[in-house]
Amino acid sequence: MSLSFEGRVVLITGAGGGLGKAYALAFAERGASVIVNDLGGDIKGGGKSSAAADKVVEEIKAKGGKAVANYDSVEDGEKLIQTALDAFGRIDVVVNNAGILRDRSFARTSDADWDIVHRVHLRGSFLVTRAAWNHMKKQKFGRIIMTTSAAGIYGNFGQANYSAAKLGMLGLANTLAIEGGKYNVHCNTIAPVAGSRLTETVMPPDLLENLKPEYVAPLVLWLSHEDCLDNGSLFEVGAGWVGKLRWERTKGAIVRHKTHQMSPEDVRDQWDKISDFTNADKISTVGESLQTLVGVLSEVESGGDIGAPPTSAAATSEHVTDSPVGYKMAPSQFTYSHTQCILYALGVGMSTKDPDALRFLYENHPEFSCLPTFGVILAQDALMGGGLSSVPGLNFDPTRLLHGEQYLEIFKPLPTSGTLTVHATIADYLDKGSGAVLLLDVNAYNGNELICFNQFSIFLVGAGGFGGKRSSDKAKPLVLPPKRAPDAVMVDATTRDQAALYRLSGDWNPLHIDPSFAAMGGFKQPILHGLCSFGFAARHVLQQYANNDPARFKAIKVRFLKPVLPGQSLQTEMWKEGNRIHLQCKVKETNDIVLSGAYVDLHPALDAAPEKLPETGGLQSELVFAEIGRRVKDAGAELVKKVNAVFGWEITKNGQNAAQWTIDLKSGSGSVHKGPYSGKADVTFTVSDDDFMSVVQGKLNPQQAFFGGKLKIRGNIMLSQKLEVILKDHAKL
Ligand code: NAI
Repeated sequence: MSLSFEGRVVLITGAGGGLGKAYALAFAERGASVIVNDLGGDIKGGGKSSAAADKVVEEIKAKGGKAVANYDSVEDGEKLIQTALDAFGRIDVVVNNAGILRDRSFARTSDADWDIVHRVHLRGSFLVTRAAWNHMKKQKFGRIIMTTSAAGIYGNFGQANYSAAKLGMLGLANTLAIEGGKYNVHCNTIAPVAGSRLTETVMPPDLLENLKPEYVAPLVLWLSHEDCLDNGSLFEVGAGWVGKLRWERTKGAIVRHKTHQMSPEDVRDQWDKISDFTNADKISTVGESLQTLVGVLSEVESGGDIGAPPTSAAATSEHVTDSPVGYKMAPSQFTYSHTQCILYALGVGMSTKDPDALRFLYENHPEFSCLPTFGVILAQDALMGGGLSSVPGLNFDPTRLLHGEQYLEIFKPLPTSGTLTVHATIADYLDKGSGAVLLLDVNAYNGNELICFNQFSIFLVGAGGFGGKRSSDKAKPLVLPPKRAPDAVMVDATTRDQAALYRLSGDWNPLHIDPSFAAMGGFKQPILHGLCSFGFAARHVLQQYANNDPARFKAIKVRFLKPVLPGQSLQTEMWKEGNRIHLQCKVKETNDIVLSGAYVDLHPALDAAPEKLPETGGLQSELVFAEIGRRVKDAGAELVKKVNAVFGWEITKNGQNAAQWTIDLKSGSGSVHKGPYSGKADVTFTVSDDDFMSVVQGKLNPQQAFFGGKLKIRGNIMLSQKLEVILKDHAKL
């Protein structure tokens, strides 16, 4: 569809000739009401005449278009906009185009040469645009064009005044784009090349012939149209060609080290690296630019080497050259004493208020122990200090790293002091499109004995799109909690100094302590470490379901969703399913979920009687599943072909989960087993034992059960239609 400007009111400054005139004619031809502004002076900004603007208005009107003239200087910005409002009642588009030249070599540039060029180009564009701004904001539509010049972008002999003013307009445009964006007021900048009175003395005539203003106008029209969503962009345009420009920045080098002062020699020695544009970053916001510094500071803080792989923000060029999968990092040692164990326990909110807590807080307690989740601290220590940045094939950027998920499994209770050896391996590297996920497996040994295993899932923003696989069988999966109200809830307030305390356990990222750092990352104040909330949640489970006995702690998995601010309260909601405690953690004040898909697996209590599921033995459905199992054995392959899905079952009794079953009609020749499916079932049914029997016996039809709320279905609901195949004829059981 052709682009129309019907109903739009467009002001073009300096439209009495050259480029501006071409824009005015083109806008009018497409239905716009045009304000043709021109002071009608000479090329150097002297003189004044209404003739130039009048002639263009006449030409537009002769062609049936709508236009009015305005003869004010752009320095009277308000008057130009008033003309638009008086004539047409609104203003939609401003093209800042008016311009003059006062070329001089720099030494000969007078104050007057400098000032007048700035006044017309930069100050004029400011005044005209400011006069239009609130009208555009109010009507939630506006398109503003700034006209810069190659002389400003690249510099040009004899044009110091003009270059400075023209690039000033680009800076103005960049900020207007940010301030106007949310009101649909967009500002873009063009650097045109065209034959006009400004260029006729410097360009040969045959070249000028091919540089018609008409070859620039179409870009201006497109940028001014409501369909064009570009904002804050810069284009070079001329001779029928249009190109877009952006900034590029080298990866750079860190020239400061924690242990010695930064010197000019350090800069000199890293000069090649500082100047090397290989894999350069394309930064487009101040935030991205500053974020780099956040990464640098944490790198310096963690003692990274001078010249270590530099940090970057908008790492559009970030990519993996060789696969890092399978890479083993050099083993490291972690030595600690009871002090670190106690400090960690305090960091995750353990308090002497709870008498049970003393075993984690007092080294002379007869049962003094280390909290199991201290296992993440040992592992993380191996990764701090630039460990990851040494991985070949991993273009690693600490500023764009998000800790996505964490799994920790304890094989032996953590010693309360000693030296452990830590081995870290890149287990997998996944391509998620918008980013990459790094799965990092870390084993910690006491001598030859494996103490604990960690899996870090680290999301590298912007590093995806390298054509890698999306998922991995090595990833420890998240598990959703049952769909019922939690069985237990614990709430704990974090203190204002929680992050300040927690960081002493080894995560020194200034994001958690330094307000200006946090601000650079877009946070109102320093945020709590995700692994601190993780520690709170694990502690809650241990207290609620394991009598604070660390020996019962087997494993934990969480996904980090949102940050927590120190001082907020953490609410851990728990669901007990046998020895698995599903959990979800919220900020109590906001109800935001901060940890999800999480669970803690416990070892059964040694002295406890085997846990009794409510009337397990008495479930009628057991017989049916046994029968289905037999049938699947007989006709499995055929059923797998027909059904090709995994069905999960949650059978309840007296409102409580009583059994789980999996009917796998997807892999091999099918199988039925008691218990949850190891992966994600295609569809999961929750139904009471009694209702299940009614359905099987044909007394209750499945649709009715579903609509009556007796049968709950999660996942691919369409698959429930295949239920019949599985359940039919069981009435005869
Ligand atoms: P032009 O001289 O033909 O057009 C500029 C117009 O602005 C003139 O009609 C002039 O009367 C008007 N004007 C000057 N001072 C004014 C004021 N204070 N208030 C209102 N109107 C005023 O020049 P051209 O080439 O069409 O330039 C248009 C814009 O494009 C200028 O901003 C120029 O700097 C820029 N530009 C042009 C290039 C080219 O190759 N033609 C190269 C790079 C930038």
